[in-house]
Amino acid sequence: MKIMVIGGGGREHAIIKKLKENKKAEVIYALPGNGGIAADAVCVNIGAKDIEGIVKFAVENSVDFAVVAPDDPLVLGAVDALEAKGIKCFGPSRDAAIIEGSKVFSKNLMEKYNIPTAKYKTFDNAGDALEFLGTVNMPAVIKADGLALGKGVIIAQTEKEAADAIQLIMNDKKFGDSGNRVVIEEFLTGPEVSVLSFTDGKTIVPMISSMDHKRALDGDTGLNTGGMGTVAPNPYYTETVARECMEKIFIPTVNAMNAEGRTFKGCLYFGLMLTEDGPKVIEYNCRFGDPETQVVLPLLKSDLLEIMLAVAQERLSEVNVEFENKAACCVVAASEGYPEKYETGFEIELPEDTDAEIFVAGAKLSEDGRLLSAGGRVLGVTATSETLGGAIEKAYSEIKKVNFCNMYYRRDIGAKALRALD
Ligand code: AMP
Ligand code: GLY
Repeated sequence: MKIMVIGGGGREHAIIKKLKENKKAEVIYALPGNGGIAADAVCVNIGAKDIEGIVKFAVENSVDFAVVAPDDPLVLGAVDALEAKGIKCFGPSRDAAIIEGSKVFSKNLMEKYNIPTAKYKTFDNAGDALEFLGTVNMPAVIKADGLALGKGVIIAQTEKEAADAIQLIMNDKKFGDSGNRVVIEEFLTGPEVSVLSFTDGKTIVPMISSMDHKRALDGDTGLNTGGMGTVAPNPYYTETVARECMEKIFIPTVNAMNAEGRTFKGCLYFGLMLTEDGPKVIEYNCRFGDPETQVVLPLLKSDLLEIMLAVAQERLSEVNVEFENKAACCVVAASEGYPEKYETGFEIELPEDTDAEIFVAGAKLSEDGRLLSAGGRVLGVTATSETLGGAIEKAYSEIKKVNFCNMYYRRDIGAKALRALD
């Protein structure tokens, strides 16, 4: 079977390594992949947003199955375009990917179908949004409607900060057309949990829960990033919470999308906050999380390719989806200065021998075959163990075997989760 994975980060590396475990995967193409993924797949220099290029490549190379991993191509309709040429895909159609592509859509969906989320109002002009601020308690959360590289959410402590955020999003168009509309919502508090799930629109199977660490610096300080590390499972996500989420959030969301004629097939990601009033949805993503995938998939006991094919063929209920009763920790090694200014092009030394998995995110190969840093988040080191403490310890001892000139990583990934276990 010829498989194609769209994307080129640590998440895609984790997906590819897992797909390779199935012998049916005779070749895996990564579009565009990266210098580290090149060790596990055939990288093809076609960008993840180049839908026309992706479809052309798939047809010319008789690709049997495509996994579309990032948000952009999903929201742009990559799955629809590939399926129109008869290529089976794992990932939602454009109509279903809107659950991530538009926060106005997802908030209205939750309101219509009684799915717990923060109270909110949506606006399509800055004047009305600014006027509404006078009636809102601070802090408040201002969100650009569309995709914004994870940067479109601003938590405003004061009315002035909220007004500045609206100005930035709606008038200065900091995120382009993604800022044509905004959501203003109530600020919630509580532990955050990421739950990725497989769904074919009929059945939903949650994966093992995880915890992201979004801030750049230790102690959850510094700027928001794409994610500096993860642990799984998330200790706040108890069996009781899981049951409540299944009943009040997961199944109702799948049903709501069906009722809207937007059946979701693929990986549906629930960003949850466990508030005093119960679990609430902070955000939906239409895809695997990064770096959540780097801790979730190493714990998957079942065959990923079989599950993905079953989702595509709407027979998820027939396959086994089982996770190890273990824990995992992923520590991301970034270029110092990320998410702002940083230098790249430094040679990356990887260990010959390691007790961890190394998922490469931002790297390229030089002409003479050396691996060079090429992004903010360079790689993630994932360790698994019987206990969370063991996984954290192992991830930190293994990351010492990795080196590049301006390497930076947080020293406290998993610390909060460990405290919660006590
Ligand atoms: P998002 O890009 O939607 O994942 O939001 C980024 C982060 O902003 C989340 O992980 C939360 O930590 C925070 N956030 C978003 N919405 C809220 C809210 N209503 N209350 C408190 N924090 C929020
Ligand atoms: N780690 C958060 C995300 O993938 O959106």
